Amino acid sequence: MGGKIRVVTVFGTRPEAIKLFPLIHALEADDRFESRVCVTAQHRDMLDQVLAIAGIEPDHDLDLMTANQSLDELTARALTGIGRVLDEERPDWVVVQGDTTSVLAGALAAHYRKIPVCHVEAGLRSGDLHHPWPEEANRKMVGAIARIHCAPTQTSADALLGENVSPASIYVTGNTVIDALNWVTDRIGQDPSLASALSDLEKRFSGKRIIGVTSHRRESLGESMQDIANAVKQIALCDDIAVIFPVHPNPNVRSVMEAQLSGLDNVALIEPLDYPHFARLLDISHVILTDSGGVQEEAPALGKPVLVMRQTTERPEGVAAGTARLVGTDTDTIVRETGRLLNDDAAYAAMARAHNPYGDGRSAARICEILATS
Ligand code: UD1
Ligand code: UDP
Repeated sequence: MGGKIRVVTVFGTRPEAIKLFPLIHALEADDRFESRVCVTAQHRDMLDQVLAIAGIEPDHDLDLMTANQSLDELTARALTGIGRVLDEERPDWVVVQGDTTSVLAGALAAHYRKIPVCHVEAGLRSGDLHHPWPEEANRKMVGAIARIHCAPTQTSADALLGENVSPASIYVTGNTVIDALNWVTDRIGQDPSLASALSDLEKRFSGKRIIGVTSHRRESLGESMQDIANAVKQIALCDDIAVIFPVHPNPNVRSVMEAQLSGLDNVALIEPLDYPHFARLLDISHVILTDSGGVQEEAPALGKPVLVMRQTTERPEGVAAGTARLVGTDTDTIVRETGRLLNDDAAYAAMARAHNPYGDGRSAARICEILATS
């Protein structure tokens, strides 16, 4: 009795790292815990960008990423690799976040050792097993395994209750993405040079309204990715518009975007930005076009209209708050809805209001307390 609570936090991709660094900081600062970090490195450069800014040095790095990796191969290697780490660390808790392959493998490896799992960002559901794919299945499987479910909102808690998850295991904590956004905003405030590398683009596009774009969903690879690229190309025909598009390194995304969009005057295809620079991009954008989960949560907090290029969303709160709109991946619809925001001031003003449906920035502290008292 009286020993520290041993927690291994397992993650592998950029968004998990962003949403977990506030919790890792909190665990490390809290005497009640002994915190260990295991990264699968399902992502490599994009993960390392976040680890660097957050000052996190993993205790275990499985270094799994391969070019154009398949889901089954990645899952198998992550499962056995995480299993070995858990055998060595023998923690009291495994913490995972979200719905990626690393999350599923982390939860399953813990379950196979009867180690309780704390699932951060639990209960997100689109209701469609193929959108987003494979994430909807991943989060449902993790939901079946977790001992503690940290639901970001009441909507996500209700989804878990609807799946007969024990009410005593569900906590509404807010989403740690808001903790992360606040943290990085403060850091930039203290040291603006952390986000100053966009200044050349800002000069090049001065006087134009900037549209920030990201796209990477696996279910959109192929035809829908082409449709998204075509939409961006048409939007960029307007003289007073400029597109800044950090392109996901997935070769199936990159090849399409480069073929359609490179060399256009009003389009900057750039490498993935580190988190401070992406926060800056959100800040200078007039409108955001994205299929990202995390960006759907950050944009409302900043009062930036976000058009979601997906068929469904597991984040209905931004839509309900009026800052987000689902537009699908059809070229004409994306162009029309973007045009409406650019040309209709009232439509723009109705969306451009800051809301915080996803959290108050104190989620990591809440999750620490839950772990300490469970
Ligand atoms: C993964 C997650 C998705 C999450 C997304 C965030 C799964 C199945 N998907 O999708 O839920 O929304 O991350 O970005 O877990 N690559 C690099 N460098 C990197 C990262 C990726 O080159 O730092 C390339 C590699 O060729 C890699 C490919 O992108 O094989 C795909 O990466 P992967 O993690 O399998 O899938 P994502 O589409 O990034
Ligand atoms: N992001 C970033 N640099 C970029 C693009 C996105 O730091 O060039 C951040 C963004 O602020 C958000 C997260 O990455 O917090 C979203 O990651 P992604 O879209 O890859 O994954 P998803 O959220 O869809 O799972």
